[in-house]
Amino acid sequence: MPPFTDGGAEILEWMKGMRDDRPVWRDEHNRYFVFRYADVQAVFSDPARFSSNIGRLMPVFGAEKLSANLPWQDPPDHRRLRQLVSQAFTPKTVAGMRPRIGEVVGQLLADAPGDEFDFVEQLAYPLPVIVIAELLGISPGDRAFFRRCADRLLGIGAEKGESEQKVVEAIAEATKELDEYLLAEVRQRRAKGSTDDVLGALAAAELNGERLTDLQVATFAALLLNTGHITTTLLLGNTLLCLDDNPDAEARIRADRSLVPAALEEVVRRRPPFPRACRIATTDVEIAGEVIPADAFVMPSILSANHDERQFEKPEQFDIQRDPNRHFGFGHGIHFCLGAPLARLETEIALNRLMTEFTDLRISADPVFHPSEFYGVKEMTVSVRRA
Ligand code: HEM
Repeated sequence: MPPFTDGGAEILEWMKGMRDDRPVWRDEHNRYFVFRYADVQAVFSDPARFSSNIGRLMPVFGAEKLSANLPWQDPPDHRRLRQLVSQAFTPKTVAGMRPRIGEVVGQLLADAPGDEFDFVEQLAYPLPVIVIAELLGISPGDRAFFRRCADRLLGIGAEKGESEQKVVEAIAEATKELDEYLLAEVRQRRAKGSTDDVLGALAAAELNGERLTDLQVATFAALLLNTGHITTTLLLGNTLLCLDDNPDAEARIRADRSLVPAALEEVVRRRPPFPRACRIATTDVEIAGEVIPADAFVMPSILSANHDERQFEKPEQFDIQRDPNRHFGFGHGIHFCLGAPLARLETEIALNRLMTEFTDLRISADPVFHPSEFYGVKEMTVSVRRA
């Protein structure tokens, strides 16, 4: 599979060919990639045949930790855990962050040096990590440490030709330090009985009289911390890439800010930060004429589905008024992204503020892309004209 290092042109061309000729494709690690929109939707909609319980093949994590890893749960455990954590991570809590997010964006942009800077370093990386750390109630001052943990996760992966098994073992190792840090924070909350942040609320949440253990709360918090910032960082960078490629769309958004939310949805379709999910077939199952054997990894390609011409008219075009726009950038079905409202809120506030602060905003050097696993930039120099 081509890497993402050229920004996606080659892989998108390759995926188009796959959708036409090989809609289900087995890679060298025996993973079955699914490329068409309808097939991806079928996989996401059928947790009985396409299980998320990757942990059952990965005992390295230990049962207690695995039981709190929401994305790796199947029904009925998934429903119970999602209900429980939803008590702490509520739409109201997220919406309540609006003023604070505005302040953080304002501060980060005010701190940006001169009229040329690295957009990732100045805004796209720090914003989501500060916001999720403050929501959880841990110190954003420790973000160099969170970054080290996240970078370790980002450094793991198939670009080195590693199998899914090896990747998961490396993840287990890379997350240990963060778990320990969060475990200490959870124990403090429980000792004080404090519930005024998401970590405290998670520690206090109950379902049918049961609470999460300290390690389960820490595991879930680590998940929020990691998923909560890597993907949103990428979405912010992807937003600039789309606007830079489409100056007409940018001009229209500048003239009418009510277009911002739909434009951001189109960014998530066109450049989904999380380009593929992972499931395990629970039984032999046929997709598009290909038999996938029980226990095989199945990889629904979000990136390919979001560009399937069977679903989206002119999918290569960045159309800020695309309607309907039923993309899979935040997943689909029972595992639909829990953090989508937060990601949408942060990017909406950031984009509005960028347009207000800078009358001109251009990418001024070739961006550096992540090679695989995540779809977006690591480094991106921009030049700006301040209002
Ligand atoms: C699930 C993408 C931001 C937390 C997912 C899934 C996708 C996704 C595709 C489904 C995975 C699957 O079905 O296997 C994104 C993107 C984001 C983003 C593109 C930003 C642009 C966030 C944020 C948080 C978060 C900010 C939390 C603070 C989660 C969690 C799940 C999830 C906990 C698992 C839900 C479940 O299994 O029920 N996300 N995400 N995400 N996301 Fe996000």
